[in-house]
Amino acid sequence: MADDFKTNFADPQLQKELAARLQYYRDMGIYDLYRRKSAGGAGGDGLSAVSTEECRDSAVLPVLNTTIDVEAELRAIREDIGDCTRCGLHKGRKNIVFGVGNPHAELMFVGEGPGADEDAKGEPFVGRAGQLLNKMIEAMGVQRADVYIANVVKCRPPDNRTPERDEMETCSPFLYRQIAAIQPKVIVALGATATKALLNVNEPMSALRGRWHAFRGTKLIATYHPAYLLRDPRQKGEAWKDLQMAMKELALEPPPKNIA
Ligand code: URA
Repeated sequence: MADDFKTNFADPQLQKELAARLQYYRDMGIYDLYRRKSAGGAGGDGLSAVSTEECRDSAVLPVLNTTIDVEAELRAIREDIGDCTRCGLHKGRKNIVFGVGNPHAELMFVGEGPGADEDAKGEPFVGRAGQLLNKMIEAMGVQRADVYIANVVKCRPPDNRTPERDEMETCSPFLYRQIAAIQPKVIVALGATATKALLNVNEPMSALRGRWHAFRGTKLIATYHPAYLLRDPRQKGEAWKDLQMAMKELALEPPPKNIA
């Protein structure tokens, strides 16, 4: 690989964007890219094959525009999902629940999958668990509209059961693409299903929460799912500790207490 490319891509932020973009292509099953030789370069047809692995390793990818148009990218992901029938969950759904929020969010929440209310509305976390999530978000000093919220699976599992492995494997590449497009600074994984799907681990929540993890270079904190907190409110204090770790990372302050 030419040294001038290495120089251009020495910027760590650019490399991070580049790595995310390459992962995005790999998630789509694209393993070979073509780069155009520079105008003054050797002859030939002007194109040479380079694998996404090779690009990642050498941090070289001049052909791709690393300034991601996030809104366009999210629209493209939604279009790719289409009227999805890739797994059995489509049979019982009313709506695909894609995700909602600020495409430029620094903070992203990932849940498990839509419930009845979300399925009816086509929006994540709008039921009882969603009301609690909204309170958690506001306690962090931000609004729901400031963050981005998505799920591991985009169709409601029957009777709100946990999504099965094949359903998660089928759907999660779309979530990975959403994360790659948004590039949040912090991901909060809500509950064991989301945490395990993102981290590919199989430990209990008690062992996963309370410490930082990384999802493809993005800082990830795991905490209890709001639905679990509704069932066992005694755990809210522990969840608040997790959220405070995210707040510290993002330099967020809780809103001033209303003393009126
Ligand atoms: N639970 C989830 O995990 N996601 C939702 O969107 C709603 C409830």
